[in-house]
Amino acid sequence: MKSYDIAVIPGDGVGREVAAEGEKVLNAVAQKHGFKIGTETFDWGCDYYLKHGRMMPDDMLDTLRDFDAIFLGCIGDANKVPDHISLVLLLTIRKGFDQYVNLRPINLYPGVSSPVKTATPETVNMVVVRENTEGEYAANGGIFKMGTPDGFALQTAIFTQKGCERVMRFAFELAAGRMESGDSKQARVTNCTKSNALNYSMVFWDRVFDQVSRDYPEIKTDMALVDALTMWFVKNPGAFDVIVASNLFGDIITDLGAMLQGGMGFAAGANLNPEKMFPSMFEPIHGSAPKYAGKGIVNPVAAIESVRMIVEHLGETEAAHDIERAIGSVLKSGSVRTRDMGGDRSTSEMGDVIRKAILST
Ligand code: IPM
Ligand code: MN
Repeated sequence: MKSYDIAVIPGDGVGREVAAEGEKVLNAVAQKHGFKIGTETFDWGCDYYLKHGRMMPDDMLDTLRDFDAIFLGCIGDANKVPDHISLVLLLTIRKGFDQYVNLRPINLYPGVSSPVKTATPETVNMVVVRENTEGEYAANGGIFKMGTPDGFALQTAIFTQKGCERVMRFAFELAAGRMESGDSKQARVTNCTKSNALNYSMVFWDRVFDQVSRDYPEIKTDMALVDALTMWFVKNPGAFDVIVASNLFGDIITDLGAMLQGGMGFAAGANLNPEKMFPSMFEPIHGSAPKYAGKGIVNPVAAIESVRMIVEHLGETEAAHDIERAIGSVLKSGSVRTRDMGGDRSTSEMGDVIRKAILST
């Protein structure tokens, strides 16, 4: 029997309750499809910080290195730890394990309503490939003469040939794969850029995009300045297939993407090291929503979607399809709806009904 070891970091706020629902579903598909899941849970996060003065132990990466995947709830609680300190946990894993692709699928399940009028299950079918290790998040700079009239801050983005090229190549391969599998009818990669104003970094980014695109003549390309792209996301979401974006732009447009999907409660993401030299990490992209924590009211679908991406990454394709089918049937029937969906059912009721849908087919 195949066996996989998953590190679980529930984290802060609602992280614990959504991660529990994810684990429920993970165990259900393992049982059904005949593989074994071993989990180890780590209590790192803001409460850990209050006790130990740091978000996680210094040897975190060594501890995580041999796992097959990492499942993260969410990190951050500004009432306990400033956000720019708590996010170090997340960014240390993304960079330390060279998870250079942040893959964020954007789909609207039938039965879910989006606040965006143009969003339908037919028009919302895209994937954002966000660069995840460099760019604007390179953490390069400093704060100088703070508190004086001469105070200033520097924050320099870093774009490397290797860094841009590999994430763009991934985007093109993904578009080709989506076309082949029938997931998309378009085979298109959109370059999300801002080279009209960022005259070094994004001009460089565009040039690498052009170089890489030449290796994929069968894939259509276009480019959209990030500001215009947000407008097009709302006006004509159906025009998009795969979008490749820098770290910051990818972060911003995927929150808008989450609205196309029906809300933050539906949006999941994978931080991938495609070469599998290091474990990849999977997480709902919503925050930790401390004000809802412990109430059992948030939607666990994003966390369960992250689990779907884990099993897909592990090569358990049938199990991944099963999760997708189960989520799809539950959402379509509308039998259980959490508060964000206009219902009053709990986080665990949503997890339970999806689990049942998996085990009963
Ligand atoms: C995300 C989050 C993080 C990011 C924060 C918490 C650092 O917004 O995963 O989208 O900006 O990458
Ligand atoms: Mn974000």
